[in-house]
Amino acid sequence: MENVRYSAKRLAEILGATPKQVEGALGRKDGFGPDDLPVLREKLRRAPEPYPARVQLFLNFKGGTGKTSLSSSYAYRLAERGYRVLMIDLDSQGHATKCLGKEGGSFDRTLHDVLIRKVPLEEVTVKTGMPNLSLVPANLAMSTIDLALMPLAGREFRLRNALQGFAARYDFVVLDAPPSFGLLNLNALMAASDLVIPVLADFLSYDGLRLLFETIQGLEEDCSHQLENIFIVVNAFNQTFKIAREALDALKTHYSDYLLDTVVRQCTKFAQASSEGCPIFGYDADSKGANDIDAVQEEILGRIRRAAKAAAGA
Ligand SMILES: Nc1ncnc2c1ncn2[C@@H]1O[C@H](COP(=O)(O)OP(=O)(O)O)[C@@H](O)[C@H]1O
Ligand SMILES: [Mg+2]
Repeated sequence: MENVRYSAKRLAEILGATPKQVEGALGRKDGFGPDDLPVLREKLRRAPEPYPARVQLFLNFKGGTGKTSLSSSYAYRLAERGYRVLMIDLDSQGHATKCLGKEGGSFDRTLHDVLIRKVPLEEVTVKTGMPNLSLVPANLAMSTIDLALMPLAGREFRLRNALQGFAARYDFVVLDAPPSFGLLNLNALMAASDLVIPVLADFLSYDGLRLLFETIQGLEEDCSHQLENIFIVVNAFNQTFKIAREALDALKTHYSDYLLDTVVRQCTKFAQASSEGCPIFGYDADSKGANDIDAVQEEILGRIRRAAKAAAGA
């Protein structure tokens, strides 16, 4: 991710300024990188719009639905907007870690140490190539976490407890979950304020969704934890496929309360970006994928704001 370069035009877009203002503030015409964003924000007085702190979990018990591609790009985009973001990689495959330009195997400690040995979260948090985006990396050490959690007291609440106080240092904590059904994901659900469920527009996604909604209902009943917001986002959508259009219609019928209007279209740039260890915004900010994630984020932030206002007015 250290290799991410910005044009003056892109920086200007991000900050709502003109390329001339960007070049003037930085005193050069090219060679811009992520480090320039906070400097520009300061010089051009472009503080991000204040936002109530969130812990946002990307989860689906099914694999390959885009949890990692979407969550890592989403976290990066929040950081571009000027928010202080912590990405936590929960998956032993360490793909979110890779998408943010780090190699999971190179870290001695992960969330495993936090949840099992109560090592403070800040001790396992690392910086990324984007100044206000930090990362809790994952590697194979995470693969035994469910077993290790099993005999422990308060085993469902360990992540939530670890984030307490710490979350105040960040505007957003973004969690990328593994596609498994166990104690780690239960911890993630208990810690989250918002759940984002990436699904593919196929009918197999239905079984996963049903199981997930049953689990959430169980949490409400047994652990009295209520997620504040749930969003379903259709990923890798290709509208030339009849089956995809039918599956989307079925989702609209059965999950209209949760389904986002924005869909993320099929876009090969996701795979290319991740192989470069870079979120899609750093790889090709003009791609369909980047545009769609940006729109998803706008929609999510807008919906949360409206829900909070409605709750405050009620
Ligand atoms: N919108 C998309 N269009 C095309 N390919 C995608 C899209 N989103 C994700 N992918 C690809 O699908 C595969 C699975 O995505 P990933 O984010 O790893 O899913 P998960 O984390 O749910 O297992 C990856 O190869 C990724 O590059
Ligand atoms: Mg993943």
